[in-house]
Amino acid sequence: MARITSSVYTSHVPAIGAAIDHGKAREPYWQLVFNGYDFSKQWMREHKPDVIFLVYNDHATAFSLEIIPTFAIGTAAEFKIADEGWGPRPVPTVVGHPVLAAHIAQSVIQDDFDLTIVNKMDVDHGLTVPLSLMCGEPQAWPCPVIPFAVNVVQYPVPSGRRCFMLGQSIRRAIESFDEPLNVQIWGTGGMSHQLQGPRAGLINKEFDKRFLDMLIADPAHLANMPHIEYVREAGSEGIELVMWLIARGAMADVNGGKPPRVAHRFYHVPASNTAVGHLILENN
Ligand code: DHB
Ligand code: FE
Repeated sequence: MARITSSVYTSHVPAIGAAIDHGKAREPYWQLVFNGYDFSKQWMREHKPDVIFLVYNDHATAFSLEIIPTFAIGTAAEFKIADEGWGPRPVPTVVGHPVLAAHIAQSVIQDDFDLTIVNKMDVDHGLTVPLSLMCGEPQAWPCPVIPFAVNVVQYPVPSGRRCFMLGQSIRRAIESFDEPLNVQIWGTGGMSHQLQGPRAGLINKEFDKRFLDMLIADPAHLANMPHIEYVREAGSEGIELVMWLIARGAMADVNGGKPPRVAHRFYHVPASNTAVGHLILENN
């Protein structure tokens, strides 16, 4: 049986990827961000998963406004690197796990969550920046990755509650896979930031801290927070945080098990236009 051993939560700021790729990671501004991930890179070496189920959002790279899947699971054998803004990052191609991804699609769709099955998809900074932050600059990523794209760009976007319930369904799917795989689930994006309009540049440290506290201790309560509160408190792009609830919903305590262990917690302002938040939770 496959198991979810831990969950990882991290921002995906594209400028972090550009800082790595353009040799700026040692500059004082960026060093303060990367310091928070030294622990995480060591932790990844010590807790190497067999598969990462990576929840992220696409930024008009794979999907345009022509087709907007709410939840899309990548079932391909590999995913090419692409991006808007700075362009495709010079990082390894992402290798998928088509058999596990197809099993999860089967199980979750039969469990009444509608997923879009994507057999060909490019992946952008939403997915590659978290991989770089956690794994550094390897020749190949340490394991296969199942990309799971959530629409948090074009309204209507899914509620935190729906995301939390979907995480529980993903856990049931993974635990019914008949191979002894160690699976990590990652929730990415956030934290508070707004890239547009009169409030562009908004950061809300109090909200972010409260979000991290509640994500750890009372995710079921946090899942009831409506969109308008994310947008009001965390800015228009702060809505990306609903993706963290998918990963949190897949943890043991939400599904009748023990509370997770907080292996690592980090928060830093600023990185580009956002607050960077990062957590590692281990199932006990
Ligand atoms: C920035 C942050 C994002 O999450 C993103 O997708 C694009 C840009 C920024 O901080 O500039
Ligand atoms: Fe983003």
